[in-house]
Amino acid sequence: MDRKDVRILVVDDEPIMSDALKQNLSAEGYRVDTAANGAEAIELFDQAGHHLVLCDLMLPDMDGMGVLKHVKDTRPSTEVIMITGYGSVTRAVEATKAGAFYFVEKPFEFDQLHILIEKALERRALVTETENMRRQLSTRTEYFNIIGASKAMQNIYETIESVAKSDANILIVGESGTGKELIANAIHYNSHRAKKPFIKVNCAALPKELIESELFGHTKGAFTGAYADKDGLVQHAAGGSLLLDEITEMPIELQPKLLRVLQDRSYRKLGSEKTYAADFRLITSTNRMPADAIREGRLRDDLFYRISTITIHVPPLRERTEDIQLLAEHFLKTYARKYQRPITGISQAAYARLFAHSWPGNVRELQNVIERAVLLAKGNKIEPHDLPFDNGSLPGGGTQQVAWDVPPNMTLEEIEKFVIERTLQRTGGNKQAAANILGIYRPRLYSKIRKYKIDLNSLGSSS
Ligand SMILES: Nc1ncnc2c1ncn2[C@@H]1O[C@H](COP(=O)(O)OP(=O)(O)OP(=O)(O)O)[C@@H](O)[C@H]1O
Ligand SMILES: [Mg+2]
Repeated sequence: MDRKDVRILVVDDEPIMSDALKQNLSAEGYRVDTAANGAEAIELFDQAGHHLVLCDLMLPDMDGMGVLKHVKDTRPSTEVIMITGYGSVTRAVEATKAGAFYFVEKPFEFDQLHILIEKALERRALVTETENMRRQLSTRTEYFNIIGASKAMQNIYETIESVAKSDANILIVGESGTGKELIANAIHYNSHRAKKPFIKVNCAALPKELIESELFGHTKGAFTGAYADKDGLVQHAAGGSLLLDEITEMPIELQPKLLRVLQDRSYRKLGSEKTYAADFRLITSTNRMPADAIREGRLRDDLFYRISTITIHVPPLRERTEDIQLLAEHFLKTYARKYQRPITGISQAAYARLFAHSWPGNVRELQNVIERAVLLAKGNKIEPHDLPFDNGSLPGGGTQQVAWDVPPNMTLEEIEKFVIERTLQRTGGNKQAAANILGIYRPRLYSKIRKYKIDLNSLGSSS
């Protein structure tokens, strides 16, 4: 805040004193009012709401403590500096207990007072900022690209806010498409490591035998095919954060090694005895319940305890339907702009469908549904028939029959790619659901997605 915007109230019954203070502080650039007694001070303060009050402890009509109390009761963010006569230290201490920032004893040096004033204003700015932030958070509909005003999302924003700055390991648990990656981003970009790299590794997408060398690097000749030394992703993440996505897909044999790295904060490259310092903040995510993964022998419990210092549970969209409208409007705006379509809203009837749907693919599915509707809509509103589940059948419902017209002269590989894409569309991008329908394990689906270079975010939904 500029000094010319800072309003200071000087309360002192000795005109020599208050005039001197007014002159001196005005010369410093502050806006200064003076009051000669308590009643006048309170009246002026109630009108102008000063940022700082300098108040004599001994006033003709009332005790300076009375002014202090009034100020702190009506505007807690205003700082008060008490001015005391010689020998009233005990009362002055009492005043600081009642909320005065500090007290100065007469006679004092102006320089000393200037420093105090600056300190008090700094503290005021800090307190006000924290309060504003708290107020904003409690009614926030958006946070670092994450949209959502539900209580569950508010809690997530607050958790991110309070843990991002620490180096605590964070586990994010939630169904596919709930926004785990957005949350991971918010944590990293809110942390002290924000300016350093944020490395993301999808444990399900990497071939099992490559994960270790990808993560920790290898030396030349460490295994067949290791033609040169290679730094691991852990090295690339130095100083920054590492996201291990789908942590339950990390090969169980590799998990003790990761655990050791987290414990010792050091690691070795494959084929080398040399140790390097591991300096990264670990964020992990999974769309399986960790307890299930542990029971099924996919996740070691000791690793789980290590990585889940803080666990963030992201509820599925069907459990926070109050966010559907906000999200739908957000995606509508985004895609209307992107495709230059004159769509301005969603009809009541279409909303009714959106609310009734169970969203197995969560926010990603909603995003795809709106994207498609923006492209299909004839009028300027999205109507029920622009939605893929118009006839009451749900995309991703296993019984739905879809006639797929497979063009002739396709190779088997092209057909496989086609079928995978269509299945992913049906599930709104939910890979687990798609893998289930296709009858293959998820890692296998991933390797096919990689092989055919299928871009999940460009699929849109099927009808
Ligand atoms: N709260 C949200 N606000 C805005 N967009 C969201 C929100 N949640 C998810 N999305 C969008 O939905 C898509 C999926 O989100 P994200 O990749 O973060 O999900 P995920 O939980 O990591 O899914 P998966 O388990 O499949 O990796 C992204 O395009 C993302 O931008
Ligand atoms: Mg993800």
